[in-house]
Amino acid sequence: MSQITQPQMVQSELVAPRTIYNFSAGPGVLPAPVLLKAQEELLDWHGTGMSVMEMSHRGKDFISIAEDAEARLRALMRIPDSYKVLFLQGGATGQFVGVPANLSTASGIADYVITGQWGQKAYTEASKYLDKVNVAARTDPHTYVPPQSEWRLSRDAAYVHITLNETVNGVVFDKIPDTGDVPLVADVSSIILSEPIDVTKFGAIYAGAQKNIGPAGLTVVIVAEDLLARTRPRTPQVWDWYAMAKAGSKLNTPPTYAWYIAGLVFAWLQDVGGVQAIAEVNRRKADKLYAAIDGSSLFVNPVAVANRSRMNVPFTVATPELENEFLTGTTEAGLVELTGHRSVGGVRASIYNAMPEAGVDALIAFMKEFENAHG
Ligand SMILES: Cc1ncc(COP(=O)(O)O)c(C=O)c1O
Repeated sequence: MSQITQPQMVQSELVAPRTIYNFSAGPGVLPAPVLLKAQEELLDWHGTGMSVMEMSHRGKDFISIAEDAEARLRALMRIPDSYKVLFLQGGATGQFVGVPANLSTASGIADYVITGQWGQKAYTEASKYLDKVNVAARTDPHTYVPPQSEWRLSRDAAYVHITLNETVNGVVFDKIPDTGDVPLVADVSSIILSEPIDVTKFGAIYAGAQKNIGPAGLTVVIVAEDLLARTRPRTPQVWDWYAMAKAGSKLNTPPTYAWYIAGLVFAWLQDVGGVQAIAEVNRRKADKLYAAIDGSSLFVNPVAVANRSRMNVPFTVATPELENEFLTGTTEAGLVELTGHRSVGGVRASIYNAMPEAGVDALIAFMKEFENAHG
């Protein structure tokens, strides 16, 4: 790994005015200093006369950007050397196939624990690939995580798949399950970098970038090196983790600009104190928002308290008419993208790392005013 070459962002750059607060579930809000840095470097990265978008992915400049981003992610997440970090395309949805294609064993069986819509999608996709996909547990409605003692795990599963944080339903695991010798695999798209995740508890984790990492178009896979020999023979090479690991994720052209922005986001996160520090802010933001919901007679969140997501906070408003009025009013007040996922409706506040605490305070203030007017 080469030395980190990019300059650290200075504290004075950490605050920049935005005209709205963006509560989108993804692509989501990015840190303003990152956008400013990207703007500053847009036409000429470090005196090369070139935009990062225009660089060869095999040239020394992009290689230094790529290595720097990986080193920062490894430092932020304390990823051991025995894990490979892959920077891929295809989104988390692509990895719904990537996981069974790369981790199945002769048994052809995998276990899925389904606690929300994304886990269901991962299961459906894996079912096209494997002989048998066992639903070890499935919640209905998706408002909690069933205790592991209730799961029906297969004896010879190749892996157990979970969605650590369900973005649509706002359901998070309150502890990492222990699956013994069977590798645990997690979709961490909407929780990565928001709180410490002990990578060593997993065989593999994967995430679409467009929430806490950077722009859409990049997908990060972190996989234990000793699982890399399992890739099924006819796996397309862009989906082949082993081949991608050997090629440093540059088997074909990687999403170079998204990779570069991810590196800037990692640098920003290091500047604000790292994952532990942002986790404290995230907890505070979520706690006060849930307190506002629970303390009101208009708003309801149905998720079991222990499994309430600190990244995605869905709630309903007393009647459909009031919900519409609430969503119109918030938008007019500059609190945007609060409409719940199209499949479930309601309201959803995604409060990723880059959502300032002041944004959550503004939302809570709006909720209180709304309740005073309508409660
Ligand atoms: C938990 C989770 N998994 C998977 C996906 C799908 O990701 P992508 O659009 O990158 O395929 C999302 C998107 O929001 C998600 O939140």
